[in-house]
Amino acid sequence: MKATAVAPANIALIKYWGKADEKLRLPLNDSISMNLSGAHTTTTVEFSDALTADEIPEALERERIVAHLDRIRSAAGMRLYATVTTRNSFPAAAGIASSASGFAALTLAGVTAAGLTMSEKELSILARMGSGSACRSIPDGFVLWEKGNSSGTSFARSLYPASYWDIRDILVIVSDEEKKIKSSAGMRGATTSPRLAARLSALPARIEKIRHALQHKDFAAFGSLVEEDCLDMHAVMQSQNPPLNYWSDETKKIMEDVKKRELPAYVTVDAGPNVHILCEAKDEARVVKRYSQYTLIINKPAHGAHLL
Ligand code: PMV
Repeated sequence: MKATAVAPANIALIKYWGKADEKLRLPLNDSISMNLSGAHTTTTVEFSDALTADEIPEALERERIVAHLDRIRSAAGMRLYATVTTRNSFPAAAGIASSASGFAALTLAGVTAAGLTMSEKELSILARMGSGSACRSIPDGFVLWEKGNSSGTSFARSLYPASYWDIRDILVIVSDEEKKIKSSAGMRGATTSPRLAARLSALPARIEKIRHALQHKDFAAFGSLVEEDCLDMHAVMQSQNPPLNYWSDETKKIMEDVKKRELPAYVTVDAGPNVHILCEAKDEARVVKRYSQYTLIINKPAHGAHLL
């Protein structure tokens, strides 16, 4: 009745922003991500008949985690409470997808501790209900989440394994403070943005292009599309009512510096101030040197969630 799982954070290359179904966490659009080797969550779940309530670390969102344990209990047809312990390899909630790695690890550890065996697809669907982006931290490497039109059709799958392409995501830690507006709350305002419709209609062509760039390992095309989608999502966020701005002055400074293109590197930012700089393995040392005044987490493409 006890299991430990590790799951990576992921960086969205094509972002998920806006839900078609709030409760089931069905997204308005398909998204693509890469798992990060240097940013992961390790979670242990133990069910026990000695407990009278779930024991969850204070720093975590208790209600959301209990709701997720309830989904697992209901799938397993059991009522035991659980002790959850968890550890991040990176600062939580600063926009480096701690909810993605957290809910992916909780899903795999919880399901296993409850004695269930699930396919990757079933795990991805269950993780999605805890946090949308968590469904992308279940499969290996480079991942596509097709939005689907029901719970059973909205899940992520691997496009290419982690070993497919030796690229880097150099994560620049601008702030390790907890973000003020969590993505799940911020996303509720997406439909108030006059830019959302244009984003949604541009996405199918952009996704096709990035899949082509991935297939041909065309890094310049890939990087440009990642940047384009990042700016597009943040334009939606910043034009929501009320507007949502996750960038600090430092974020903008680094983004502008990368965009000078003095190095063959591209930039993307999720729902937080930290900056992800993408480059090929051969250029890692130059990127690291240029941003050496910051705390950096160097990521390679990584495997999905797995048991310890
Ligand atoms: O599923 P959440 O609540 O972690 O939302 C993720 C939102 C972004 O990180 C901004 C985009 C994404 O696709 O990961």
